[in-house]
Amino acid sequence: MSAGMAKTLATIHKVITRGVEVTRSRSQSFAEQGLPDEALWSGFVSYARTFVNLTHAHHDGEEVLIFPFGQQKMPDTSFDSLIAEHQQIAALLDEMGAAIDDAEKNPATESLSRISRLATQISEIWRPHIREEETIFSAARVNAVVTPEEQGKLMQQASQHGMQHAGPDYLAAPFILHNLEPEDRAHMAGEMPPIVSQELVPIVWKDQWAPMKPFLLP
Ligand SMILES: [Fe+2]
Ligand SMILES: [Fe+2]
Repeated sequence: MSAGMAKTLATIHKVITRGVEVTRSRSQSFAEQGLPDEALWSGFVSYARTFVNLTHAHHDGEEVLIFPFGQQKMPDTSFDSLIAEHQQIAALLDEMGAAIDDAEKNPATESLSRISRLATQISEIWRPHIREEETIFSAARVNAVVTPEEQGKLMQQASQHGMQHAGPDYLAAPFILHNLEPEDRAHMAGEMPPIVSQELVPIVWKDQWAPMKPFLLP
Protein backbone atom coordinates (compact mmCIF):
# COMPACT_ATOMS: atom_id res chain seq x y z
CA MET A 1 0.00 0.00 0.00
CA SER A 2 1.26 3.45 -0.85
CA ALA A 3 2.43 6.00 1.71
CA GLY A 4 -0.80 7.95 1.37
CA MET A 5 -2.20 10.79 -0.62
CA ALA A 6 -0.65 13.62 1.44
CA LYS A 7 2.85 12.39 0.60
CA THR A 8 2.06 11.75 -3.08
CA LEU A 9 0.47 15.17 -3.51
CA ALA A 10 3.43 16.90 -1.84
CA THR A 11 5.84 14.90 -4.01
CA ILE A 12 4.18 15.79 -7.31
CA HIS A 13 4.20 19.41 -6.10
CA LYS A 14 7.99 19.13 -5.69
CA VAL A 15 8.26 18.03 -9.34
CA ILE A 16 6.33 21.06 -10.55
CA THR A 17 8.11 23.43 -8.14
CA ARG A 18 11.49 22.36 -9.51
CA GLY A 19 10.07 22.44 -13.03
CA VAL A 20 8.98 26.06 -12.83
CA GLU A 21 12.26 27.11 -11.21
CA VAL A 22 14.45 25.35 -13.79
CA THR A 23 12.32 26.72 -16.63
CA ARG A 24 12.64 30.23 -15.18
CA SER A 25 16.35 30.18 -14.44
CA ARG A 26 17.46 28.47 -17.66
CA SER A 27 15.31 30.61 -19.96
CA GLN A 28 16.65 33.68 -18.19
CA SER A 29 20.28 32.61 -18.54
CA PHE A 30 19.76 31.69 -22.22
CA ALA A 31 18.23 35.14 -22.75
CA GLU A 32 21.16 36.84 -21.01
CA GLN A 33 24.08 34.70 -22.13
CA GLY A 34 23.00 33.65 -25.59
CA LEU A 35 21.39 30.60 -27.09
CA PRO A 36 22.78 27.15 -26.42
CA ASP A 37 23.71 24.63 -29.12
CA GLU A 38 20.94 22.77 -30.88
CA ALA A 39 20.90 19.68 -28.66
CA LEU A 40 20.67 21.67 -25.44
CA TRP A 41 18.06 23.92 -27.02
CA SER A 42 15.80 21.04 -28.08
CA GLY A 43 16.22 19.56 -24.60
CA PHE A 44 15.08 22.82 -23.06
CA VAL A 45 12.05 23.03 -25.37
CA SER A 46 11.03 19.47 -24.37
CA TYR A 47 11.60 20.23 -20.69
CA ALA A 48 9.57 23.45 -20.69
CA ARG A 49 6.77 21.89 -22.74
CA THR A 50 6.57 18.90 -20.41
CA PHE A 51 6.41 21.29 -17.46
CA VAL A 52 3.42 23.03 -19.08
CA ASN A 53 1.63 19.76 -19.94
CA LEU A 54 2.22 18.17 -16.56
CA THR A 55 1.06 21.21 -14.60
CA HIS A 56 -2.14 21.42 -16.67
CA ALA A 57 -2.68 17.69 -16.12
CA HIS A 58 -2.07 18.01 -12.37
CA HIS A 59 -4.68 20.74 -12.02
CA ASP A 60 -7.13 18.84 -14.13
CA GLY A 61 -6.67 15.72 -12.00
CA GLU A 62 -7.30 17.75 -8.86
CA GLU A 63 -10.48 19.25 -10.22
CA VAL A 64 -11.84 16.01 -11.65
CA LEU A 65 -10.76 13.58 -8.91
CA ILE A 66 -9.03 14.98 -5.83
CA PHE A 67 -11.17 18.02 -4.99
CA PRO A 68 -14.54 16.26 -5.45
CA PHE A 69 -13.22 13.47 -3.24
CA GLY A 70 -12.00 15.99 -0.66
CA GLN A 71 -15.33 17.80 -0.79
CA GLN A 72 -17.15 14.58 -0.04
CA LYS A 73 -14.84 13.62 2.85
CA MET A 74 -14.40 17.14 4.27
CA PRO A 75 -17.68 18.91 3.45
CA ASP A 76 -16.73 22.12 5.28
CA THR A 77 -13.75 22.78 3.03
CA SER A 78 -14.06 25.27 0.18
CA PHE A 79 -12.09 24.61 -2.99
CA ASP A 80 -13.23 27.78 -4.78
CA SER A 81 -10.04 29.81 -4.31
CA LEU A 82 -7.85 26.86 -5.30
CA ILE A 83 -9.88 26.42 -8.50
CA ALA A 84 -9.65 30.15 -9.23
CA GLU A 85 -5.86 29.91 -8.87
CA HIS A 86 -5.79 26.97 -11.27
CA GLN A 87 -7.51 29.20 -13.82
CA GLN A 88 -4.96 31.98 -13.31
CA ILE A 89 -2.09 29.53 -13.65
CA ALA A 90 -3.72 27.88 -16.70
CA ALA A 91 -3.86 31.21 -18.54
CA LEU A 92 -0.15 31.78 -17.82
CA LEU A 93 0.68 28.22 -18.88
CA ASP A 94 -1.13 28.74 -22.19
CA GLU A 95 0.87 31.91 -22.77
CA MET A 96 4.01 30.03 -21.89
CA GLY A 97 3.09 27.26 -24.35
CA ALA A 98 2.73 29.88 -27.09
CA ALA A 99 6.07 31.46 -26.12
CA ILE A 100 7.73 28.02 -26.27
CA ASP A 101 6.26 27.46 -29.76
CA ASP A 102 7.61 30.86 -30.87
CA ALA A 103 11.00 30.21 -29.31
CA GLU A 104 11.20 26.82 -30.99
CA LYS A 105 10.57 28.30 -34.44
CA ASN A 106 12.71 31.32 -33.85
CA PRO A 107 14.98 31.14 -30.79
CA ALA A 108 15.21 34.80 -29.85
CA THR A 109 15.94 36.65 -26.63
CA GLU A 110 12.44 38.14 -26.63
CA SER A 111 10.58 34.81 -26.39
CA LEU A 112 13.07 33.49 -23.84
CA SER A 113 12.52 36.51 -21.60
CA ARG A 114 8.79 35.98 -22.00
CA ILE A 115 9.11 32.35 -20.84
CA SER A 116 11.17 33.45 -17.87
CA ARG A 117 8.72 36.21 -16.92
CA LEU A 118 5.75 33.85 -17.17
CA ALA A 119 7.55 31.26 -15.01
CA THR A 120 8.07 33.94 -12.35
CA GLN A 121 4.37 34.83 -12.44
CA ILE A 122 3.33 31.18 -12.24
CA SER A 123 5.67 30.60 -9.33
CA GLU A 124 4.17 33.52 -7.37
CA ILE A 125 0.72 31.90 -7.50
CA TRP A 126 2.00 28.33 -7.28
CA ARG A 127 3.88 28.57 -3.97
CA PRO A 128 1.01 29.78 -1.74
CA HIS A 129 -1.37 27.56 -3.74
CA ILE A 130 0.41 24.34 -2.83
CA ARG A 131 0.83 25.45 0.80
CA GLU A 132 -2.95 25.78 1.00
CA GLU A 133 -3.51 22.42 -0.73
CA GLU A 134 -1.03 20.61 1.47
CA THR A 135 -2.74 22.09 4.53
CA ILE A 136 -6.16 20.89 3.39
CA PHE A 137 -4.78 17.48 2.44
CA SER A 138 -2.33 17.09 5.34
CA ALA A 139 -1.67 13.51 6.43
CA ALA A 140 -3.41 14.13 9.77
CA ARG A 141 -6.60 15.52 8.18
CA VAL A 142 -6.74 12.95 5.40
CA ASN A 143 -5.93 9.95 7.56
CA ALA A 144 -8.74 10.91 9.94
CA VAL A 145 -11.40 10.55 7.23
CA VAL A 146 -9.98 8.35 4.44
CA THR A 147 -8.81 4.74 4.74
CA PRO A 148 -5.37 3.82 3.35
CA GLU A 149 -7.11 1.63 0.73
CA GLU A 150 -9.24 4.52 -0.50
CA GLN A 151 -6.19 6.78 -0.62
CA GLY A 152 -4.26 4.22 -2.61
CA LYS A 153 -7.12 3.78 -5.07
CA LEU A 154 -7.57 7.52 -5.54
CA MET A 155 -3.85 8.08 -6.09
CA GLN A 156 -3.80 5.30 -8.65
CA GLN A 157 -6.68 6.94 -10.52
CA ALA A 158 -4.96 10.32 -10.27
CA SER A 159 -1.72 8.87 -11.59
CA GLN A 160 -3.50 7.25 -14.55
CA HIS A 161 -5.39 10.44 -15.25
CA GLY A 162 -2.15 12.42 -15.09
CA MET A 163 -0.32 10.13 -17.49
CA GLN A 164 -3.18 10.35 -19.98
CA HIS A 165 -3.08 14.15 -20.00
CA ALA A 166 0.56 15.05 -19.47
CA GLY A 167 1.76 14.64 -23.06
CA PRO A 168 3.96 11.80 -24.28
CA ASP A 169 4.76 9.24 -21.55
CA TYR A 170 8.39 9.05 -22.68
CA LEU A 171 8.83 12.68 -21.59
CA ALA A 172 6.32 12.96 -18.70
CA ALA A 173 7.49 9.88 -16.75
CA PRO A 174 11.22 10.77 -16.73
CA PHE A 175 10.28 14.41 -16.04
CA ILE A 176 8.42 13.32 -12.89
CA LEU A 177 11.06 10.88 -11.67
CA HIS A 178 14.12 13.01 -12.44
CA ASN A 179 12.91 16.27 -11.01
CA LEU A 180 13.00 14.49 -7.64
CA GLU A 181 15.80 13.56 -5.25
CA PRO A 182 16.28 9.78 -4.85
CA GLU A 183 14.02 9.24 -1.84
CA ASP A 184 11.08 11.06 -3.40
CA ARG A 185 11.85 9.44 -6.74
CA ALA A 186 11.54 6.01 -5.15
CA HIS A 187 8.17 7.02 -3.72
CA MET A 188 6.82 8.20 -7.08
CA ALA A 189 8.22 5.14 -8.85
CA GLY A 190 6.11 3.09 -6.44
CA GLU A 191 3.00 4.94 -7.61
CA MET A 192 3.65 4.01 -11.26
CA PRO A 193 3.37 0.60 -12.89
CA PRO A 194 6.75 -1.11 -12.19
CA ILE A 195 7.50 -1.42 -15.91
CA VAL A 196 7.60 2.38 -16.22
CA SER A 197 10.39 3.05 -13.71
CA GLN A 198 12.26 -0.23 -14.21
CA GLU A 199 12.23 -0.69 -17.99
CA LEU A 200 10.59 2.06 -19.99
CA VAL A 201 12.28 5.14 -18.50
CA PRO A 202 15.79 3.73 -18.04
CA ILE A 203 15.94 1.53 -21.15
CA VAL A 204 13.20 1.74 -23.78
CA TRP A 205 12.63 5.52 -23.69
CA LYS A 206 16.22 6.44 -22.76
CA ASP A 207 17.15 8.14 -26.04
CA GLN A 208 13.85 10.01 -26.32
CA TRP A 209 14.27 11.90 -23.06
CA ALA A 210 18.07 12.14 -23.13
CA PRO A 211 18.03 15.75 -24.47
CA MET A 212 16.23 16.85 -21.25
CA LYS A 213 18.99 15.42 -19.04
CA PRO A 214 20.94 18.67 -18.60
CA PHE A 215 17.84 20.08 -16.89
CA LEU A 216 17.06 17.03 -14.73
CA LEU A 217 18.60 15.49 -11.62
CA PRO A 218 20.94 12.55 -12.29
FE1 LIG B 1 -3.88 22.74 -7.28
FE1 LIG C 1 -1.74 20.50 -6.51
